[in-house]
Amino acid sequence: MKNKTNLFILSGFIAFSSCTSDSVSDLGEPSNLSEVTYTTTVKSIIDNNCIVCHGNSPTNGAPMSLTTYENVKDAVLTRNLLDRISRAEGASGAMPLGGPRLPQNDINAISEWIDANFPQ
Ligand code: HEC
Repeated sequence: MKNKTNLFILSGFIAFSSCTSDSVSDLGEPSNLSEVTYTTTVKSIIDNNCIVCHGNSPTNGAPMSLTTYENVKDAVLTRNLLDRISRAEGASGAMPLGGPRLPQNDINAISEWIDANFPQ
């Protein structure tokens, strides 16, 4: 009985410590301002989560493409892109539409890209 309890505590500790080191390494990259550019970071976030609707010819009722640097910058400046991806999951107007909210690290990376004045 006592051994089982110890094993339970030990496995909980292992699970907890591996989660902790994962999130530390995840947080490391986007917080380095100089690394966040459209090419290295933003493009792949948009490609993986948005262009299924916001493609070259937008589908599913999406009003614009998000396939180029200019498209994405324009959507930030004139279409509230950061606000849309920052809304709570399931909130009206939240993007990606109908999908899970982006990981917070991705939202932070886009926010840093905007603060750094859209490096290409
Ligand atoms: C399943 C399809 C779909 C996906 C995936 C999707 N969108 Fe949209 N998006 C739409 C539709 C439809 C609208 C128009 C309705 C609205 O404004 O809410 C829209 C509107 C928007 C608008 C506002 C446009 C305007 O003119 O006001 C922004 C900004 C936006 N999307 C950004 C994104 C971003 C960034 C992603 C990826 C993180 C994304 N969307 C993923 C379908 C989608």
